[in-house]
Amino acid sequence: MSAEVVVVGLRAGRRRDGGAVATATPPLSWMTETDRPDWMQAAAEVEKDGIVHRVEGDASVLVAWPYDPLAPREECRVRVRVEGEDGSRSDWSGPLVILAGHLLDGEWRARMIGLAEPSEVAQPVLLRRDFVVDAPVRRAVLYSTANGVYDARLNDRAVDDAEMKPGWTAYQHRLLYDVVDVTTSLRDGTNTLAVELAGGWYTEEYGFGGHARRFYGDQPAFAGQLAIEYESGRTKLLATDETWFATADGPRTRSGIYQGESVDARREAPSDLAAWSRVVVREGLTVPQPRSSEPVRAIEERAVESVIETPTGKTVVDFGQNLVGRLRIRVSGAAGTVVTLRHAEVLEDGELGTRPLRLAAATDTYTLRGGEEETWEPRFTFHGFRYAQIDGWPGVFDPAAVTAVVMHSDLTRTGWLETSHPLLNRLHENVLWGTRGNFFSIPTDCPQRDERLGWTGDIQVFAPTASFLFDCDAFLASWLEDLAADQRAAGGIVPFVVPNVLPWRPTAAAAWGDAATVVPVVLWERFGDTDAVRAQYPSMKAWVDTIGQLAGPDLLWEGRFQFGDWLDPDAPPDDPARAKVDPGIVATAYLYRSTRLVTDAARVLDESCDAEEYAGRAERIRGAFRSAYITPTGRLLSDAPTAYALALQFDLAPPQLRQAMGDRLALLVRSAGYRMSTGFVGTPLIQDALVATGHLVTAGRLLRQTENPSWLYAVTMGATTIWERWDSMLEDGSINPGWMTSFNHYAFGAVADWMHRSLGGIAPAAPGYHRSTIAPRPIDGVEWATASHTTPYGRVSVHWSLHHGSFELDVTVPPNTSADVRLPDGIRHEVRAGRHRFTAEIAAAGGAPAAATLDSTLAEIIDDEGAYDVVRDALSRVDPDEEWMGRRTHWVPERSLRDELLMSPGVVVDEIGSALMALGRERRYGGPPPAPPSQ
Ligand code: BGC
Repeated sequence: MSAEVVVVGLRAGRRRDGGAVATATPPLSWMTETDRPDWMQAAAEVEKDGIVHRVEGDASVLVAWPYDPLAPREECRVRVRVEGEDGSRSDWSGPLVILAGHLLDGEWRARMIGLAEPSEVAQPVLLRRDFVVDAPVRRAVLYSTANGVYDARLNDRAVDDAEMKPGWTAYQHRLLYDVVDVTTSLRDGTNTLAVELAGGWYTEEYGFGGHARRFYGDQPAFAGQLAIEYESGRTKLLATDETWFATADGPRTRSGIYQGESVDARREAPSDLAAWSRVVVREGLTVPQPRSSEPVRAIEERAVESVIETPTGKTVVDFGQNLVGRLRIRVSGAAGTVVTLRHAEVLEDGELGTRPLRLAAATDTYTLRGGEEETWEPRFTFHGFRYAQIDGWPGVFDPAAVTAVVMHSDLTRTGWLETSHPLLNRLHENVLWGTRGNFFSIPTDCPQRDERLGWTGDIQVFAPTASFLFDCDAFLASWLEDLAADQRAAGGIVPFVVPNVLPWRPTAAAAWGDAATVVPVVLWERFGDTDAVRAQYPSMKAWVDTIGQLAGPDLLWEGRFQFGDWLDPDAPPDDPARAKVDPGIVATAYLYRSTRLVTDAARVLDESCDAEEYAGRAERIRGAFRSAYITPTGRLLSDAPTAYALALQFDLAPPQLRQAMGDRLALLVRSAGYRMSTGFVGTPLIQDALVATGHLVTAGRLLRQTENPSWLYAVTMGATTIWERWDSMLEDGSINPGWMTSFNHYAFGAVADWMHRSLGGIAPAAPGYHRSTIAPRPIDGVEWATASHTTPYGRVSVHWSLHHGSFELDVTVPPNTSADVRLPDGIRHEVRAGRHRFTAEIAAAGGAPAAATLDSTLAEIIDDEGAYDVVRDALSRVDPDEEWMGRRTHWVPERSLRDELLMSPGVVVDEIGSALMALGRERRYGGPPPAPPSQ
């Protein structure tokens, strides 16, 4: 019977890639697989070194470590078995081997070492130390880190497969070291530990508009220690110090994240150590701590899809996908031949479109050694690109010799969504690629230009989406530690970017700094990670206290610097902060929301005094918001969609005005012709706000819109990632002239969270999806959808389809969880683990549209998609140069089409009028109109 119930996915800590654990008391998580219906865990047993610990109840996610703290380098085996409420029992799981990666106070001995006399800034370096192993080794563990980025080789064997180590953190407060068991790479006698080092994020220049400056330091340095335990019990610690050697004479001559890398393969580091020089010891900024999240790795390789010869005769390769990583080339030619690789996301006028990269050269060069075929890939840089220009290729260019290596933090994919609508599927795919490219050691705004920073606002809005697609608990929890450190240094203000490298005075900005409160709560909600909330609680409170003070006694956060509803499509391209919604509304709404989140966190952590205090504050802020910004009939002071979305979604709307506000929101959306009219703040909220107030049809229309600006506009323009601006590329194929135009920015992709919950129908109802809400809401134009999510308890999946007005739903609920299933007809079912099928009748759409004429209202025209198309086509026939009225017109119920065309030439009015008549005839007779009776 035990084979029917199996424990799988046992892990220690948050990391999913099996690396060393970062604490002495790593929490344990496991999942249960079984076909037994309704299965719930009644108890579990954990075994370590023969000691069994019993966990009563259903806890299986991030369960507190039940043993004494591990010792540094302790390796232990843990296994788990479970008992069901139904009396079933599993066998023991396979063993999980845990290596403790932490060190005790004072055990970090390694010094930061680097090149004694560098000849240029950010000079790549090779470091080396030979040492002798003189007895059988029981275990050897290497701890290593850098002010810069490094790779380590032991006896010419890479110690691991991670890239860009140790990754980016707020280096002045927090530096991570990697821990690897290298026992099998050691040999008797002389061993060589060799390290290659470059500047990476540490020596990068940060800042904009010609004001970039090096923030951390000019030269990279490395620190590492190898702890060898002999069979005899003797131990030896080999730590970086002044006895190491360095040389700058290796092949890598230049390396930078923004600029790219150069390698001259003719150069070789001297094999004789006598030609190397002694290192210099540099002061480290901080004592490093063990890595707690998955490192960056090379994840996938992609072949060239096509080769383009540009109008100016350049060779450009197209990978068919905007991605992040770098190229690997195989090339043969004469020694000294230089191959240059230049990267870009788009083409403009048929040439590489590099203007959006600003000061990032994103260029790698390789100088051939000559002789046999050479394979090369840069090592300490990455680029965001779909296209690469290849100059200087010797002989005939062979596209098979170039591969794109896709890199990102090695997170486990956990979420999928597919529908019957191909453009929506591509939109979702674009969100996925946006996550991949921007979850690169830290959550970045973009991966290509001279920026790639941890902009807090971007991840604040995107964290829920990312948390469905990938298990990013460890990744975001680690970044939150940097946020808290940078925030402490800024006296409670959360900087715009984390790590904070911008040269400006730390300034609080709503929706950006609120990453401090929102992201930990997302980790709690999506991954059941109460520890993250506990760890971030002081930061959450400090943020809310700080912005509460900025708001002052009237509790309205107004008048100060704000990004506001950044990149509202109606803001001027060169002034993205000038949105329709007043920044004070955005800021005060976020002040309320964050204060509420601190209240929630206080309750989760049993901080009852705090809970009461912050709940009271929140109530007063809500009162202030209502009296300052909401009229008695439910209008908002900024009559803009983002204002209504904020009020509805953040629970600021008075209950009796919710419907009026939702209706007003829907009216504004229609008035804008179902085009987007929200920026970073409103876009992630608008769909939920519409659906919550009964406007699912409006939300569906907004989602399916393809005219600019809309989510699908970019898709119809061939986008393969989410763009920073609604119109990063204009309709004529030119790049938006704005200074800030990326083609890989995830913020607007935050709609995918709504797609997962509403179209896919999967949402958490209790932390970590211990209970799920399954509530798919079909929209027009979508006949079926399939969604699944690997929750911390196991896979939830949903498939629904529509057949002649009947809705069919298949749901799989993982063991040890329950689900609240809500059908579109309003009927609810409570279910537990297993497969379930439901059907519901869906009310048919309201019959054929009324006949559209010149006297129809503009609202009627836009709501009748066929009539709208006819008007647009007619207009473009008679007046092709006229800008399509779609974007200018307010599609309101008070005005007729005839009124709108009042000043148009008669020929235009006539053409539109007869086109609508033809449409009416076609609809009535179901085809071309009958021939007129012969006279
Ligand atoms: C970044 C954004 C960021 C914004 C803040 C831009 O440069 O790319 O995504 O949130 O600045 O204003």
